[in-house]
Amino acid sequence: MLKNFWWPLDFTPEVTTKPKRVTALGQELVLFRTPDGKPQVMSDLCVHRGGALSDGWLEDGCVVCPYHGWKFKPDGECVRIPANLQNVPVPRKARVDSYPTQDKYGWVWAFLGDIPEAERPPLPNLDHFGSPDFKMTYGQFEWNAHYDRVLENSVDIAHAPFVHGGSFGNRNEPEVEEYTIKTHGDLGAEATVTLKPPKRNVRGLWNRLYKEETQRKGVTTRAAFFLPCLTLLEVNLPIGKMVLWNAHIPVDDFRTITKWINLRQFFKGDWADGDARKRVFKIFQQDKPIVEAQSPEMLPYDLGAELHVKSDSLQIAYRRMRQKYIDKGWSIDTHLIQSDYSRHQAVVIPSPARREVPELANAWVMKEVPVKKAAN
Ligand code: FES
Ligand SMILES: [Fe+2]
Repeated sequence: MLKNFWWPLDFTPEVTTKPKRVTALGQELVLFRTPDGKPQVMSDLCVHRGGALSDGWLEDGCVVCPYHGWKFKPDGECVRIPANLQNVPVPRKARVDSYPTQDKYGWVWAFLGDIPEAERPPLPNLDHFGSPDFKMTYGQFEWNAHYDRVLENSVDIAHAPFVHGGSFGNRNEPEVEEYTIKTHGDLGAEATVTLKPPKRNVRGLWNRLYKEETQRKGVTTRAAFFLPCLTLLEVNLPIGKMVLWNAHIPVDDFRTITKWINLRQFFKGDWADGDARKRVFKIFQQDKPIVEAQSPEMLPYDLGAELHVKSDSLQIAYRRMRQKYIDKGWSIDTHLIQSDYSRHQAVVIPSPARREVPELANAWVMKEVPVKKAAN
């Protein structure tokens, strides 16, 4: 799990003026929207006694801890300690880590890290969002698997004929043509390939997707990933594009929630939304037992620890890019956090505010998450 990236955490409509807890990267976070509509993500850990701010409420655009009523501005600064006599100032140390937050492409994103703005990897440019040409649906899917495995599954081209044979891919023609990788700096990569659709007829309305011509020529499919956790599947059907953007959000090392957004260029009426959702769900259901049974549960750090063939190039690109950021010291040491360590030490991903208030950086009460040593 990499810090110093923009992480999508929840869908835009799910973030309201009622504080909400989201567990991601093994951390408890609180998400809320101030009355002026601005979303905010903070560590869900009150600096007083470690109360959960997500059980609190909003007051004057500030979040109030439910335990002793300490009141924190969206930038993390405590502005009121109700038990203090009126002339007692709030200690400057009384701050909660607060993360740069933005609303884009239908998700609320937080920059989970502490590097200066100029050095932050940007949000990727995602295609097709906001276009009136597409109808959007969204939903989520839970996996008992590490997000690296889930992410790789989403860009794995060779599994389609075997795992999704009835929907796309064809077991009688499983060869993956040679494809070239197009990289997006050090932040992502993509490939476009032509897949053979299943031979058998699909019943009902969606039959139209599998016209004879498609069966002969195949379906052009684009797969991509963007760090830290997004994948794209763009299928060019004869009646238009079907686009699936997945945010694979690690809850911890063992669980992942995929918050997906589906865009379709056909059957754009609300009446087809249920069917579109069902189709996405079916694909994930087919993948789930395969991914959850993979061993080891976590992606090896050593590229040579698993055997790769040509058709795995996109996953290799992911592993290489991930390694670059691990070597940079951006990987959270979740093993250490999950050990006994976390029972007597509350840790948070450091926010930029720690660096922006240098005299406070050392005095900050909640300890920074430990990071992995390079190349282990
Ligand atoms: S624990 Fe939050 S105010 Fe005491
Ligand atoms: Fe799959």
